[in-house]
Amino acid sequence: CGIIGRVGDGNALEPLLTGLENLEYRGYDSAGVAVQNGSGIDIQKRSGKVDELKKSIGDTPLDGEVGIGHTRWSTHGPPTDANAHPHTDGTEDVAVVHNGIIENYVELKSRLADHGHEFTSDTDTEVIPHLIQHYLDDGMDNESAFRRAIDELEGSYAVTAMLSGEHVLYAARQGSPLVVGMEDDEYFLASDVPAFLEYTDSVVYLEDGDVVIVDNDGVEFTDLEGNPVVREPETIEWDPEQAGKGEYDHFMLKEIHEQPTALTQALEGRIDPENERIALSDLDPETFTDVESVQLIACGTSYHAALYGSLALNQAGIQSTALLANEYSVSAPPTDDDTLVIAVTQSGETADTLSALRQANAEGATTVTVTNVVGSTAAREADEAVFIRAGPEIGVAATKTFSSQAVMLTLLGQCIAAEQHGEPPADLGSLLPELATMPDMLDDLLVDSGADLIAEQYADSQSYFFIGRGLGFSVALEGALKFKEITYEHAEGFASGELKHGPLALVTPDTPVFAVFTGEEDEKTLKNAEEAQTRGAPVVAVCPDGHRAVDVADAHLEIPETEPALAGLLANVQLQLVSYYAADLLDRPIDKPRNLAKSVTVE
Ligand code: G6P
Repeated sequence: CGIIGRVGDGNALEPLLTGLENLEYRGYDSAGVAVQNGSGIDIQKRSGKVDELKKSIGDTPLDGEVGIGHTRWSTHGPPTDANAHPHTDGTEDVAVVHNGIIENYVELKSRLADHGHEFTSDTDTEVIPHLIQHYLDDGMDNESAFRRAIDELEGSYAVTAMLSGEHVLYAARQGSPLVVGMEDDEYFLASDVPAFLEYTDSVVYLEDGDVVIVDNDGVEFTDLEGNPVVREPETIEWDPEQAGKGEYDHFMLKEIHEQPTALTQALEGRIDPENERIALSDLDPETFTDVESVQLIACGTSYHAALYGSLALNQAGIQSTALLANEYSVSAPPTDDDTLVIAVTQSGETADTLSALRQANAEGATTVTVTNVVGSTAAREADEAVFIRAGPEIGVAATKTFSSQAVMLTLLGQCIAAEQHGEPPADLGSLLPELATMPDMLDDLLVDSGADLIAEQYADSQSYFFIGRGLGFSVALEGALKFKEITYEHAEGFASGELKHGPLALVTPDTPVFAVFTGEEDEKTLKNAEEAQTRGAPVVAVCPDGHRAVDVADAHLEIPETEPALAGLLANVQLQLVSYYAADLLDRPIDKPRNLAKSVTVE
């Protein structure tokens, strides 16, 4: 879901609609706006895309200087016009947009219903404007009624409210992100910075428990009781151009091509190949002192990066496991003071991952997050944060953040191993120079990858299989996830050796097998690929030129020759491109695949 709010001179509608368009990448199924018209609040909202909302606003644009807007991704109730935000108290005196979940909404709703309030949606959000109105009816002033209502909410929320007759926005944050943008005499509230980046680059990230009051004269930062809190503005260094598609047809393609830059940024100042040193200045030097084992927790693509990182850690001699964050509460291995738990999350807001992180914190583990978003909840709640510096990722399907996460985890693995063993791992001397040349290798790969031809050659297949061994296994899983996410075709990833233990039954001439070769027991992987080939499946080898697999395979996706620790990342970029071109041939909405959201803030 996405929130935008704006206070300033001139009509608020344009910045609100721009904000909603900028937030489209978060994934949504309904959109709406509300503005103060001088005598009350005008609202337009509907299921569907922002374009449809614009059409429904049509020739009678809403007119007002203060407004709020929202993109909704359904959690309570289907994506209908009635369930779209903003929600009101029925009289259109109070309008509210909200992200998160109000856990006690059933109880609040029934209490308010007893006082005569009538509800028109299935959402948990609708209780908020009714609650505010309830306290207004009790004689409270606007600010007190807002604070009192917020005080009664249980769960997670980012809330922005507007009350009729005043040029003010009220907002509160608890567990869902909310940022304030400030530019001379124009102020914004949003769930994410790109919403208002055209208008200002000066932002304040709110913290849990913050309540802010925004009017034409400025922003008041307080806690729930109204005591002032100090929140320093930060300057965002991305420009709006960077948040747009640039020369590319899709954000995903742009972000795939941004990987050399993203990696350069990730490595900047952190590796010194000449002196064989890694310096992670983000971290307290003591972080790894007593670490005996590592758990990596994550979801989706970040889970595959975590798996990659976990294998890299194991190979560096550190006991480590990658765990799905949403399984953590029921199946986490024991943790103690010597356990390091690394939450891997691009957004830093994935509810499943935050929940596992909170559990690890409560159990006394040392926690670190590897994330892309400074100021995110994970960054605040983990003991330490390592930022991957990939820049904003807009495409719902994660690409550049996977590569940057995997590289950062590889570096962390080397640091932990050095700490545990009292000396840097033996292969650090060869790894660091290769890492330093990764951006150049990726640049070469991206010039003419050949992935478009492979996508075309195998279009119309029945299923797509991806296999790999060691680090290549996590890449096979990620290759299949990317493929199914954006093409809607059936795709599965397997450990190469597992193919013969079941999946081989599915193999036919209509099921191309993409085999990832990373230099880890490649002969065995080749044999596994041949087992599929013998049964008619075309094999696409993802490997360097001159590799033995090239002669055996039906087709070849080339990657530069490098260390096994990094070959999988290059192979992954080839597979990202295959998925992209296959989805493009099928004319899929690549940046916003159906049913998926960039950041899933519910468990
Ligand atoms: C959603 C997205 C995935 C992403 C996952 C984890 O499901 O659609 O692309 O990998 O969340 O997101 P995170 O922000 O925690 O990395």
